[in-house]
Amino acid sequence: MSIAESVNNPAEGAFQLYTVLREHLAAPLPKGLSFEQACVIPLALATSGYGLFHGEFLGLDMPTVPARRVDGGKPRAVIVTGGATSVGSNGVQLAAAAGYEVISTASPKNFDYVKKLGAKHVFDYHEDAEALVGKIVGVLKGRSLAGALAIGDGSIELSAAVIERHADTTHKFIAAANPPTSAIPGVQVRFIDTRDAAEPDGHIARIWKDYLPQALEEGQFVAAPDARVVGNGLEKIQDAMDLQMQGVSAQKIVVSLD
Ligand SMILES: NC(=O)c1ccc[n+]([C@@H]2O[C@H](COP(=O)([O-])OP(=O)(O)OC[C@H]3O[C@@H](n4cnc5c(N)ncnc54)[C@H](OP(=O)(O)O)[C@@H]3O)[C@@H](O)[C@H]2O)c1
Repeated sequence: MSIAESVNNPAEGAFQLYTVLREHLAAPLPKGLSFEQACVIPLALATSGYGLFHGEFLGLDMPTVPARRVDGGKPRAVIVTGGATSVGSNGVQLAAAAGYEVISTASPKNFDYVKKLGAKHVFDYHEDAEALVGKIVGVLKGRSLAGALAIGDGSIELSAAVIERHADTTHKFIAAANPPTSAIPGVQVRFIDTRDAAEPDGHIARIWKDYLPQALEEGQFVAAPDARVVGNGLEKIQDAMDLQMQGVSAQKIVVSLD
């Protein structure tokens, strides 16, 4: 069965005890990492990894273990907003491992969390937009900016304003977790549609095969955010949905099945 034919194949779906996985999209769990915690990775890794590394998006260098070092030239930076989201928690780690200084946003209570994942600077997205843009442009001084992965309301506009103001932006591009609502002159914005993320030789497969096993084993990539296990069994799915609808902060709502 080709990749295209098998999209939406129920055997590969969630909410079932045994799910068929593709070998190139799986990695061994290191000792001590539970399935409940590890399950925060796949969707968020695919979304952020696609936006950061796919050539039709930001096209960044791939992550390495240890983190890629770039000697000579200006330090390179990338914006990954929403560092406390599931997508952002994975994206911050991947971008840092690829050798970019990561600039992120979160609520102040999550600043340390996002920095621990590898962000160099984290700013409060509740701040006045103009002041926030000024602060981010300030820390970008002397750095080349490789674009932005925008996660969270207002993040496309924030990233676009920074890209516009920072003279040394090598790629005026925003990979957007959510569809943009309007065009932004001078900046290309593209919604991350992970339709072919399962390709065996694609960027996501390369992260799973060439980066993740060693990075997890050596603790250079962690399963983040924390899984909040709501309970066990399909009957808990509604409770989980209700909790998710109330909003989460640096957490992933998980239901275990066994
Ligand atoms: N394109 C795709 O294929 C794809 C796949 C998955 C998800 N998504 C989208 O990606 C986004 C993130 O999904 P998720 O499941 O990772 O989210 P999530 O974990 O449910 O997000 C919760 C977090 O959002 C943060 N947040 C809320 N508003 C923000 C803002 N304006 N700026 C920055 N951070 C903000 C909060 O941070 P604080 O607690 O620090 O305030 C909170 O921790 C969603 O919009 C989702 O629809 C897209």
